[in-house]
Amino acid sequence: MSTASVTLNGKVYELPVVRGVENDIAIDITKLLSESGAITLDPGFNSTGACQSGVTYIDGGKGILRYRGYPIEQLAEKSDFVETAWLLLYGELPNAEQLKQFRGQLTYHSMIHEDMKKFFEGFPPSAHPMAILSAMVSSLSTYYPGSEDDQSDANIVRLLAKVRTIAAYAFKKSIGQPTIYPRNDLSYCANFLHMMFAVPTEAYAVNPVLVKALNMLLILHADHEQNCSTSTVRIVASSRANIFASISAGISALWGPLHGGANQAVLEMLQTIHDDGGDYRKYVAMAKDKNSGFRLMGFGHRVYKNFDPRATILRKMAGEVLNELGVDDPLLEIASNLEKIALEDDYFVQRKLYPNVDFYSGILYRAMGIPTNMFTVMFALGRLPGWLAHWREQQSDESSRIYRPRQVYTGATERNYVPLADR
Ligand code: CMC
Repeated sequence: MSTASVTLNGKVYELPVVRGVENDIAIDITKLLSESGAITLDPGFNSTGACQSGVTYIDGGKGILRYRGYPIEQLAEKSDFVETAWLLLYGELPNAEQLKQFRGQLTYHSMIHEDMKKFFEGFPPSAHPMAILSAMVSSLSTYYPGSEDDQSDANIVRLLAKVRTIAAYAFKKSIGQPTIYPRNDLSYCANFLHMMFAVPTEAYAVNPVLVKALNMLLILHADHEQNCSTSTVRIVASSRANIFASISAGISALWGPLHGGANQAVLEMLQTIHDDGGDYRKYVAMAKDKNSGFRLMGFGHRVYKNFDPRATILRKMAGEVLNELGVDDPLLEIASNLEKIALEDDYFVQRKLYPNVDFYSGILYRAMGIPTNMFTVMFALGRLPGWLAHWREQQSDESSRIYRPRQVYTGATERNYVPLADR
């Protein structure tokens, strides 16, 4: 076994080196504190591996993303979301019988308890659907309180089936329409579109173009190894909190504009540029000016420093889907111009800032009729199998321990309390 040495106060500590199957190298520092008294410092965990995982492989330099070894490009083109979810969860592509059963279970569990519908009535009409989603997912634990040991696969199915229904109900709530029950004859994605867009007063036929686009969008978002929300799920689950609480925490982490909330922020930014006369150069200049506090949303990534393979797939697909739907969106042109100018600009080139997955997903969701404040909910729906796969992996890893990072203390040193009268 190879080692790395750290010299501290003249003493050398040999630390084991761990290698992944793709030759990623990690220095195992688990014994560093007990042996040397020192910790490592890495705000934002840029250089820190929190676990060993077999779910997803990313090579940010080469723009590679694989779920369980399968390239994202192949899955996006040939698989569908339910099959990809199974792959992420159980590590292999399902056979015909396994897939049939899984699809059946997701259909069978798609309704939520009737009492839960009353919760929706309590939210104000302006409630953000992500707030509703996170609250509802946490509430599911009140209906399924059993132990995770014997319930985990059942709860995984419940979450995959019901989060879709909750997401559609949150949308219906926000526009004041009655909720629409799921239909057992529809596929996972078709059922979601039906619950989103059908109304009780007329027939609704799901457009297969939208079903195909949605499958692809959800596949592209399905996992991304130890990102902010997935790490949150793992952190919460490490305290043995139940699966619903853990996933609800992941949803909250995803909400922020630097993570899943970026897709909403991208579209709002494109709309602002459009309403401001379309001068995208002005906004590129603002993004380069540190004093402006403005960033080009949908650009940059902690891991991808060359290109985001999901953005490449989405860019092509956005053009195709808009064509097929006959949508002529001026925001797409602004997006293309922004991308072009940013890719040639020194500021972006030097910092390796490229369009990420969220840059084009908003344009697609908009063309599909999904409102802006639902974009991050769509991301959550897509990321759910990834969160669950990591949750499952962590539960079965006997070496996993409660997450408990350390800190370097920078506050006041010891001082004596001063009574109020003397202050
Ligand atoms: N526009 C302008 N400048 C930027 C941007 C941007 N979008 N992103 C990073 N920078 C600059 C940043 O100011 C810094 O410059 P300097 O070195 O001169 O101080 C440098 O690039 C490095 O940025 P960072 O914030 O240290 O990088 P990070 O790895 O901590 O952050 C990020 C990654 C994705 C949060 C960031 O690029 C960002 O805020 N992007 C916009 C939000 C966004 O699109 N988020 C979605 C990410 S993809 C979906 C997902 O997986 O969640």
